Amino acid sequence: MTHVIRTATTDDAGRLAKLAAVTFPLACPPGSAPEDIAAHVASTLGPDNFRAYLADPAVTVLVIDEAGELRGYSLLVARPAQDPEVAAVLSELPCTELSKCYVHPDHHGLGAAAELMHASIAAAAAAGARGLWLGVNSQNARAIRFYSKSGFHRVGTKSFKLGSTVEHDFVMERAIRP
Ligand SMILES: CC(C)(COP(=O)(O)OP(=O)(O)OC[C@H]1O[C@@H](n2cnc3c(N)ncnc32)[C@H](O)[C@@H]1OP(=O)(O)O)[C@@H](O)C(=O)NCCC(=O)NCCS
Repeated sequence: MTHVIRTATTDDAGRLAKLAAVTFPLACPPGSAPEDIAAHVASTLGPDNFRAYLADPAVTVLVIDEAGELRGYSLLVARPAQDPEVAAVLSELPCTELSKCYVHPDHHGLGAAAELMHASIAAAAAAGARGLWLGVNSQNARAIRFYSKSGFHRVGTKSFKLGSTVEHDFVMERAIRP
């Protein structure tokens, strides 16, 4: 079935939360405690969280929409990096954060993620960004490979707290040429 990539609206908040609950655990390292993952999903990826993201003028959410079903989403934040570990290593400024990039597992390996990435880069470029950065768990080999294919390279590391565990994310950046 064909799909479109479009900007999300507040009507998508509930469906985004459902998709996020399926896809967030896939990005966590194998040893993550299920209760930590569930708590993180409940506190940051619920419908109200997505409504707040969508109301933030610095945030753009793109969705892969297949006949009304969401198959993937990305979330861009057009703000200077707050984390000093990140701000210190970025060189393509202004640099938008690709804060979330998730595709439903039924659609992995089929090119949908590359289309979502292409649209995300285009949206960041249209908003004036010179670079795009992201954090990815150091054990998430599939995502790291995908980001490398998409033109990102590793520029540093940052810490990410999941429950009581401190995870180490790679910071990756790519230039956006006008
Ligand atoms: C990250 C994501 C969007 C990429 O989409 P995708 O459709 O899987 O991407 P692709 O299939 O185009 O690319 C994945 C690459 O990783 C490779 N790969 C798959 N499993 C791998 C593994 N265990 N180790 C190393 N590479 C792996 C694939 O072979 C492919 O590389 P290739 O094209 O050179 O063969 C998707 O996997 C996803 O949503 N994952 C779950 C959520 C997540 O981790 N999001 C990122 C959070 S930062």
